[in-house]
Amino acid sequence: MNFVPYISKTEIDEICARLGKQISEDYKSTNLIVIVVLKGSIVFAADLIRKIQSPVQIDFVRLSSYSGTKSTGSINLSKDLSLDIKDQHVLVVEDILDTGLTMSYFKQHLMTLSPRSVKICAFLDKPSRRQVPLEGDYIGKQIEDHFVVGYGLDYNEKYRNIPEILYLK
Ligand code: IMP
Ligand code: MG
Repeated sequence: MNFVPYISKTEIDEICARLGKQISEDYKSTNLIVIVVLKGSIVFAADLIRKIQSPVQIDFVRLSSYSGTKSTGSINLSKDLSLDIKDQHVLVVEDILDTGLTMSYFKQHLMTLSPRSVKICAFLDKPSRRQVPLEGDYIGKQIEDHFVVGYGLDYNEKYRNIPEILYLK
């Protein structure tokens, strides 16, 4: 397999600083529940939350839809929230928006729990792949239709620990 360097650590740091500033300005001193979508978002979320000035609580969910590079078409909530999000501002942190199926399913699920607001922050976005209308509120970078790994993103559970983003050639 051939991996090509795509997004450097320097660019990643710039993205996190920009998003953190934007989120801090939007929420100011309002309490915010950050929902980290396991497993891919952990690296990005760890960087991002340290750039957010607003008071933050963290929770984790596990949603799975992928095996290899192709969507299986089914989405599964295999770890649910532990915090109560009723009347709370919620920011979902996702590694990448692809078909949009995962986030649109999850957003609908969150809405049934009566949060005050729900926004989505995704490190990467592949708008050309969308199958359902879904837009992220905060996007690190829009990319072309490449399969990417590193910075938390995997190919069959591997390569999550690579510090930058590579694409598969
Ligand atoms: P969606 O439901 O198609 O938007 O799928 C989003 C999920 O698919 C992401 O959270 C990733 O786990 C996975 N995914 C989509 N594209 C890539 C990629 O290029 N590399 C690694 N995982 C990806
Ligand atoms: Mg994921």
